[in-house]
Amino acid sequence: MSFSIAIPAEDGKSEPRVAATPETVKKFIALGASVTVQAGAGKASSIPDDAYKEAGASIARGLESAVKGADIVLRVRRPAVSEVPKYKKGALLIAIMDPYGNQRDLTAIAKAGAVGFAMELMPRITRAQVMDVLSSQANLAGYRAVIDASETYGKALPMMMTAAGTVPAAKVFVMGAGVAGLQAIATARRLGAVVSATDVRPAAKEQVESLGAKFIAVEDEEFKQAETAGGYAKEMSKEYQAKQAELVAGHIAKQDIVITTALIPGRPAPKLISKAMVESMAPGSVIIDLAAERGGNCDVAKPGEIVDHKGVSVVGHLNVAGRIAATASALYARNLYAFVETMIDKEAKTLAVDWDDELVQATMLTRDGAIVHPAFSGKGE
Ligand code: NAI
Repeated sequence: MSFSIAIPAEDGKSEPRVAATPETVKKFIALGASVTVQAGAGKASSIPDDAYKEAGASIARGLESAVKGADIVLRVRRPAVSEVPKYKKGALLIAIMDPYGNQRDLTAIAKAGAVGFAMELMPRITRAQVMDVLSSQANLAGYRAVIDASETYGKALPMMMTAAGTVPAAKVFVMGAGVAGLQAIATARRLGAVVSATDVRPAAKEQVESLGAKFIAVEDEEFKQAETAGGYAKEMSKEYQAKQAELVAGHIAKQDIVITTALIPGRPAPKLISKAMVESMAPGSVIIDLAAERGGNCDVAKPGEIVDHKGVSVVGHLNVAGRIAATASALYARNLYAFVETMIDKEAKTLAVDWDDELVQATMLTRDGAIVHPAFSGKGE
């Protein structure tokens, strides 16, 4: 007995990542799977078809032949609705599904008979850390944000003492010290910048300081309560936001690079940098808004664009993890492997989903023709 896995090619223009690497293909085969990769699927992540072939996969020329009969379809993004009817009925579709506000597509996926799983709904519990795509991708986005900033910034980041005189270190301020922000802090420190950071969660203070950055925040009673049981930030009150803006305004004016990463689950990104704050920065300064995809932390940022606002570059790249595609694919593919592995009977080498497993329950969106996830079925809260 065995089971089959398909890896379709993503839309290369908007998504350079791929859902499997030769490493994970080998591991899937060791579990008892046969793997089919659509030709060119790994190209934008620098993985040629031959590397998949050497790992034991078959290469299919088109999408239809890649997914035909597969028990599991692994993707980076939710597929076009027209793709899903090409799958076998009951096939598992595992991807970053972006389910919020996309009810209509979820319904179509359900109607087509696929069992859809959203990797971004994976609970943040110890057992599932290895499957946490939000962390694996945010970490790389944080790194890439600093690389993008240093590319756009016309000066050096580290202090340099040269025969022609001393160059001062750049000042970098990171707003939001979660997974992406902490990696941005670490990366900017490695490049020699003088780094400071802010967050609304008290737990962030120690983490920021342990990376050698200065922590700046309004540490009032509301701050002490700002972390939810899940470890995320709450939306702060208008009063807090005003105090925060007052505190950071003077600080931002003295920065060379500001990187914003602040998010609140299920809400638009909080606005942290006003137009006036952008205008307070010296020409040549750079703002990287990693929240651009979710409405932006900076009033001036435009999704997918680099705006020159009175000499300050405001960068709103989309899919920042995709800007470091080969590494992002490697980590994402491992996240997927770890999840799929929990669905396999290792003795019998067959697919054996435990429908009551908490990871399955938390991530499963569609099954048996319907949306089954309480957050999207209209039946839950
Ligand atoms: P996120 O992507 O939802 O938000 C990014 C950061 O923005 C957070 O640190 C948040 O506190 C901050 N933020 C929100 N509103 C803000 C505001 N108005 N001003 C300044 N900062 C603001 O968060 P992410 O990166 O996903 O991490 C959230 C937490 O989850 C962290 O504590 C992290 O350590 C924890 N975590 C736990 C994991 C596990 O237990 N398996 C795995 C990954 C993260």
